[in-house]
Amino acid sequence: QFMRKMQNEPILEYKKGSAERVALDAELKKMAATVHEVPLRIGDKKIKNKLERNQVMPSDHKHVLAKYTHATKDQINEAIEVALIARQKWERVPLKKRADIVLHAADLCGGKYRMQLNASTMLGQGKNIIQAEIDAACELIDFFRFNAKFALDLEHYEPISTDVSTNQMSLRGMEGFVAAIAPFNFTAIGGNLASAPALMGNVSLWKPSDTAVLSNYIIYEILEDAGIPSGVLSFLPSDGPVFGDVICASPHLAAVNFTGSVKTFKTIWRNVADNLDKYVTFPKLIGECGGKNFHFVHPSAHLDSVATGTVRSAWEYSGQKCSACSRMYVPASIWPQLKEKIAAIHKDVKLGDVRDGSIFLSAVIDGTSFNRCKSYLDHAKSGKDGAEVVLGGGCDESKGYFVQPTLITVKDPKSKLMTEEIFGPIITVYVYEDDKVDEVLSSVKDATPFGLTGAVFAQDLKFIEKAREVLRDAVGNLYLNDKSTGSIVGQQPFGGARMSGTNDKAGGPHYGIKWLSAQTIKETK
Ligand code: ALA
Repeated sequence: QFMRKMQNEPILEYKKGSAERVALDAELKKMAATVHEVPLRIGDKKIKNKLERNQVMPSDHKHVLAKYTHATKDQINEAIEVALIARQKWERVPLKKRADIVLHAADLCGGKYRMQLNASTMLGQGKNIIQAEIDAACELIDFFRFNAKFALDLEHYEPISTDVSTNQMSLRGMEGFVAAIAPFNFTAIGGNLASAPALMGNVSLWKPSDTAVLSNYIIYEILEDAGIPSGVLSFLPSDGPVFGDVICASPHLAAVNFTGSVKTFKTIWRNVADNLDKYVTFPKLIGECGGKNFHFVHPSAHLDSVATGTVRSAWEYSGQKCSACSRMYVPASIWPQLKEKIAAIHKDVKLGDVRDGSIFLSAVIDGTSFNRCKSYLDHAKSGKDGAEVVLGGGCDESKGYFVQPTLITVKDPKSKLMTEEIFGPIITVYVYEDDKVDEVLSSVKDATPFGLTGAVFAQDLKFIEKAREVLRDAVGNLYLNDKSTGSIVGQQPFGGARMSGTNDKAGGPHYGIKWLSAQTIKETK
């Protein structure tokens, strides 16, 4: 019955005075009043060591939200040993039972932990209320529920048996352990990276992002509360290169489930290549990386939907969704009107502290991110590449890492601002001559090595058909008359093509297969 009724988790609105808003405000207050101690988790042990680190609030960087420590090499190796022992029992637990644990975790996220998940994502990662709700509550719940459903669907296939043989396929987890390396920008992704392989019978070492330790640890505790046995998941905040070197040097590395930068993902591939002769099994390297996502506007486009879609895609969560629109192609005939429409919305786009319920966006995640955004703003202000700052352009890190929502125009579509990933609330627009529309569309794909998301806005349906064809290999997620962000589990399985990742489509029906090493058994009668 559960199978027939699959639905996405409804988004709570948190209107002023609503029960959920009162509960969230109380949780925000309580959470901000404490410095949370987050331990390393290896088997039954909760560990701290001397490698102390702080997680601060991006919108108030003097405010320490959590204290945690980085795992040492020995501790990561210990977690591998503990995981391999836990695996012996866990991979024999029937899939239905594992799925029940994950479904129980989904219910806990929607119930007693919902406000903690949202508050930790707001305070720690700089999301406003709704952006936190759609990530840390709804998407996480959806990942748990849909992954469980899709996993159980896999069991429906039975190989054909004949008069002479009985054939079976046993959906087994992989021999070894999975390293789940999580990003800061989606709390739900951290939970999915670690739990999806576990659902399929694997054991995971979970390295959260340093800037998302608290929210990720809350998910760890939820999974524990739901009944995941000790040792199946280890929680290991770590220095990236140290963690990478230890897991890649282990003969038992079965897979890496990664979301982060292209640069880091390439480092992992190289590291695995260097260790290739050590491995028991070929490690599967599954990665979701960056993007330089585009909105392509045709002269026939509906201007209001382009304007609202672009504002949302480029500036929601300060452009820190890997899917955020960061370059835009607009025909000269409609640019003046479109610019006015975007400017009118921009006036009401409020930047501020996450606890202010009326903000549209807050600070970027940390000082590194702030400096990167600032250098692109400085570049634009210098006028290089014919750049002109049309909206925003300011930034201030005195209290939090605040970067204004910014729109820049350039004269050169191949310039730095049109081709490099910025990961901030900055969109660059190239205005093209209307009669070059086909030529410009054809240039979009190879303008960058990325291929994550892209959107085409046109009411001319013939052009939409053409765009489908021209952009066939260009992106993993293509949007037609919609913004480039906001994929929903079960509706738009998500993953980037080209250098944006291995395109394994989290939130889709085939994701679970990645985490199997099935055994086919033929028994002669
Ligand atoms: N899945 C997220 C989105 O589509 C990254 O915005």
